[in-house]
Amino acid sequence: MNLEKLSIEVGNLCKEVGANIIQQRLNFDPAVVVEKGLNQLVSFVDIEAEKQLVEGLKKIVPEAGFITEENTVEQLNTELVWIIDPLDGTTNFIHNLPVYSISIALAKGNEILIGVVYEMGKKDLFTAWQNGGAWCNGEKISVTKTSELSQSLIATGFPYYEFDQMEAYIKTLTYLMKNTHGLRRLGSAAVDLAYVACGKFDAFFETGLHAWDVAAGCLLVQEAGGTVYDFKGENNFLFGKSITAGNVPVNAILNQLVQSNFK
Ligand code: IPD
Repeated sequence: MNLEKLSIEVGNLCKEVGANIIQQRLNFDPAVVVEKGLNQLVSFVDIEAEKQLVEGLKKIVPEAGFITEENTVEQLNTELVWIIDPLDGTTNFIHNLPVYSISIALAKGNEILIGVVYEMGKKDLFTAWQNGGAWCNGEKISVTKTSELSQSLIATGFPYYEFDQMEAYIKTLTYLMKNTHGLRRLGSAAVDLAYVACGKFDAFFETGLHAWDVAAGCLLVQEAGGTVYDFKGENNFLFGKSITAGNVPVNAILNQLVQSNFK
């Protein structure tokens, strides 16, 4: 498989579907939003975008199966799997805050072969393929060289539907507020990871995320020279619902911090 060629094809598909999503936003009626669970929002835009992506990806790698956020396609147990979030940052989209993205990864088991994040507001296309580096609009990108936590900018996502680890979160946030340049919560984990990969953020952490929120972004960070762990400092970040990602030194410090706060 030519992974570079595949990532270009997936990028083109993202731009096509992204243009439809932006068009839908122009006349978007918040009344069409449905709540899947507490604060877990979805609209016909997410569902239509997912269907278009699935159709496009079936043509690119016909033998691959799907893991998708909106469940519009049967999830078969295939060796190759597309992991898709058609609209990461749905809450931002609904409130017309321009940070949302399409996130697509192709995985073989736990190994991610390609990762594409398309940030529609800025029309920035982030792509990575295994051993091929990470790229934004065709320019090579890399993580920051910051080595001190005190010099770093950290991104996170606040809990909004599971609150059992609030104490650990608040303890971690308190420490980071006092010991970094600051914290940011953009509202799209895929964009957070892309921004780690291109050196806007030094690191990112969040708990409660799904594979479709992080799969593409993890490869971007790794191919940009960074590291990704779960909250135990291990590699179960794809399906394990906890993640820290960043440049090597800052992510090591951040991961130690979450390991001591989250039990
Ligand atoms: C969400 C975003 C958000 C993160 C949430 C995710 P969605 O994805 O990535 O930043 O904090 O945990 O669920 O639901 O908008 O696709």
